[in-house]
Amino acid sequence: MNKKSYSIILGISALLMLFIFLLVGHHRGIPDRVRLDRGTLLGTGSSVAERIRPVAQVNIASAETQGEPVKNAAAAPPPSRNGQQVYQSTCVACHDAGIAGAPKLGDKGQWAKHVAKGLDTLYASALNGVQGSTGAMPAKGGNPALSNAEVRAAVDYMVARSK
Ligand code: HEC
Repeated sequence: MNKKSYSIILGISALLMLFIFLLVGHHRGIPDRVRLDRGTLLGTGSSVAERIRPVAQVNIASAETQGEPVKNAAAAPPPSRNGQQVYQSTCVACHDAGIAGAPKLGDKGQWAKHVAKGLDTLYASALNGVQGSTGAMPAKGGNPALSNAEVRAAVDYMVARSK
């Protein structure tokens, strides 16, 4: 074996040893990295339960807030509003400015011919709707959520203010 081939073999084995050294070093680190990865995935800070919990809480919270009024509505109807409140919530849309031929609140001249029909007729018109000479009044003023008592209270309020 001459000097040249000897140094080539020496070089190759040095490279081989370096390679083995790196390989072993690399694999020796793997268990640590696996532990680390598992720690981040399952560990205290961000375990599966931990990560889905806020979502579950939000769902429960919104279900509770959404469920609350429904539960109350089933248990007891909302307290009936008085005539003025019903008027302000619904009837005001037409009767305040006299929209669509509606008699204006407080206008005795416009209301006279309606008041002359008698309260029972006015209740019936407000509850069922009426097609008059000046325009059409939708049933319950177009708000079916109103109870009959609330509509009648609103009629009482409007008539009292307009005669
Ligand atoms: C979309 C518009 C509109 C709304 C909202 C509305 N009205 Fe009317 N209302 C009218 C019109 C138009 C007339 C006139 C009908 C006519 O010529 O007889 C009228 C007439 C009436 C009359 C007289 C009916 C008759 O037989 O002479 C009463 C009472 C009345 N409305 C009550 C109400 C009450 C109570 C509400 C709210 C719950 C309400 N209105 C909401 C349009 C409306």
